[in-house]
Amino acid sequence: MSAPLRVGLAGLGTVGAGVIKVLDENRELVERRANRAIEVVAVSARDRHRERGVDLARFDWVDDATTLCRREDVDVVVELIGGADGPALTLARATFDCGKSFVTANKAMLAHHGLELAGRAEKAGAALKYEAAVAGGVPVIKGLREGAAANALSQVYGILNGTCNYILTAMEKDGLAFADVLAEAQRLGYAEADPSFDIDGVDTAHKLAILAALSFGAQPDFASVATQGIRAVDIADIVHAAALGFRIKLVGLARAEAGGLFQRVHPCLVPLGHPLAHVDGSLNAVVAEGNFVGRLFFQGRGAGEGPTASAVVADLIDVARGEFGPAFAMPAGRLAKQAAAAQGDHVGRSYLRLTVADRPGVLAELTAALRDESVSIESLIQRGTAANGGVYVVMVTHECSERAVRAALARMSASDSVIGEPMMMHILDF
Ligand code: HSE
Repeated sequence: MSAPLRVGLAGLGTVGAGVIKVLDENRELVERRANRAIEVVAVSARDRHRERGVDLARFDWVDDATTLCRREDVDVVVELIGGADGPALTLARATFDCGKSFVTANKAMLAHHGLELAGRAEKAGAALKYEAAVAGGVPVIKGLREGAAANALSQVYGILNGTCNYILTAMEKDGLAFADVLAEAQRLGYAEADPSFDIDGVDTAHKLAILAALSFGAQPDFASVATQGIRAVDIADIVHAAALGFRIKLVGLARAEAGGLFQRVHPCLVPLGHPLAHVDGSLNAVVAEGNFVGRLFFQGRGAGEGPTASAVVADLIDVARGEFGPAFAMPAGRLAKQAAAAQGDHVGRSYLRLTVADRPGVLAELTAALRDESVSIESLIQRGTAANGGVYVVMVTHECSERAVRAALARMSASDSVIGEPMMMHILDF
């Protein structure tokens, strides 16, 4: 049996403590699977004295995490600090400069610097592993990088943020407004004190940029992900969507299109017949479509101590076995710089919800705007009274370009019969 794999662990939040617990509790199994022991030797975090439920006295304490990789008794660094830049990025670069492997849960850093880091890892002859960065404990990175490697993937999409899915599920189940559910989630510690990365879709966009690079052999391109979060989703949307046979989910979607790589994070109406519609609460799920394997569906816990630590330790087992492989399923130099497909070219059905003054001729104004942009209505509902005294008008369009729907919405918004901002959501029709 080989010598133990010696780990330097940077970041001792929930996941860091979880990694220590998994390695303690499953020590013998991990050792048999890796065919060598995996041992944490040194740790680093901001607060040395915080109670974490694990005994840290057996590890060396390092104040400056960015020096962990230079220790002779560290073979691999686990980074659980977070943040796209700063100490996490400094540590990643330094680790590869030392010729050592790097395991991370840091989706923001990979979305912004994935190409550079994959290149550095290759030059160093080391591994860059990040199973925990996307969908936490769900083995979607290994699934796509290894299990689906023989396939051309046409699209990859999913529910990648547990906080948003928890909020949308609670709104639907309890009939509560977005702000009330968010406040309760924060009180219970499910949502961050500053939840903007989650609810504005940025966290999902980071994960999507990674999945897209992996799935389509593309350089990670976070800047091209069109991102809209869930702040504007009203309980009225959830009620109307349910009446029409849909559930609302924040979906990150990437597709290989004729015009380039299409990447979008957007609240979508998911038909009840689609498996994503039934992914509730804080669960995550990813769907990928391969040209030989067909539809793959991955589901599980996307966050939390146990699931995320499980993914980190799986990566450590790979490193211990010497299974490095290219980070994005092919050498960094072979990842293509793909053009970004124009969002307006996207064709599909859309859901529109407007609040309008309840007076004669308003519907005629709305339908004229749609007619003038050649958008055809599949169904239309007017019912209920909005909080501001208007009435809701909800429409589902037939398939048409997003450009046409947005142009029609701009015409409608210009009318003084329309109160507030209209809501538009795509319908997931595949
Ligand atoms: N904040 C993320 C979520 C978990 O709510 O899913 C970490 O990626």
